[in-house]
Amino acid sequence: MARRKIIIDTDPGQDDAFALLFALGAPEELEVLGVTTVGGNVPLARTTTNALQLTELAGRADVPVFAGCPRPMLKRLQTAEYVHGESGIDGCVLPQPSRPAAGEHAVNWMIRTIMEAPEGEITVCTLGPMTNLGMAMVMEPKIIPRLREVVLMGGGYFQGGNATPAAEFTIRVDPHAAREAFESRALVTMASIDCTWTAMMTPEWVQSLRALKSASAEALIGMAEFYMSYGSHKFETADRPIHDACVPGYLLVPEAFSYRQCNVVLETRSPETEGMTVVDWWHSTGRPKNCKVLGKVDAPRFFDRMYRAFATLP
Ligand code: RIB
Ligand code: CA
Repeated sequence: MARRKIIIDTDPGQDDAFALLFALGAPEELEVLGVTTVGGNVPLARTTTNALQLTELAGRADVPVFAGCPRPMLKRLQTAEYVHGESGIDGCVLPQPSRPAAGEHAVNWMIRTIMEAPEGEITVCTLGPMTNLGMAMVMEPKIIPRLREVVLMGGGYFQGGNATPAAEFTIRVDPHAAREAFESRALVTMASIDCTWTAMMTPEWVQSLRALKSASAEALIGMAEFYMSYGSHKFETADRPIHDACVPGYLLVPEAFSYRQCNVVLETRSPETEGMTVVDWWHSTGRPKNCKVLGKVDAPRFFDRMYRAFATLP
């Protein structure tokens, strides 16, 4: 079967790191054309260095990394060091990258790559604020019908948000960019926090990675321990959602995810609910269903597939 060609747009982030290594650990199914970075969990310079270090950790310095937008379309950047630490991937020590980011801007590269590929070939996976993709859609709308799918981690439906009562972090950071994607008519698939909270990573599963005895596993364990230490004041469990990993999880084991086609509208104007993904679960508006909203994850299948991907890494 032909490998699925993907672009990973990311703001690492420990859960982004899990997603990236998950995708890179499945090379027989996913061809990662490039990694594009965005300001999000930490500023752009950090997310770019992190992406370079993580691709090297995976033994994939051949995958180019392109730095993208340092801030959202219309807002100031809001970062999340309080969750991810100063570096964004606290908990592990990785060598400095041996190569720089590619010279081309991520948005230009994204547009060029999608325009040069056959129609319907490329899937864009966004794991952070959707600024790069939103900008690409504004700069060259002809990319939209050429996309195979946009698969994003972000938003919420029953749970509301994690950054505010109404909004999930990545969408809250750049709701205007997210709106571009949701209004684009591209095939959009959303792994919201309602989905990711059904793929809970347990401390026991994290420790099971020790058996892999690899540098990647050691780094993943360290990152997980740091990431899972956040939230003990409010979550009633030691388990944590490994949000972004649901994106490659969906690409690799789609049958492990329930879903519902819905209309989703982005709230961009209200200060209380800015960044909310307004999901018409019951189709009460009659508006066109523009989003595949992922639901419950079959967690054992998901974690088993992720473990097998990590087992292939150095
Ligand atoms: O809300 C979770 C999302 O916000 C994840 O992408 C995490 O990395 C942060 O960016
Ligand atoms: Ca992220």
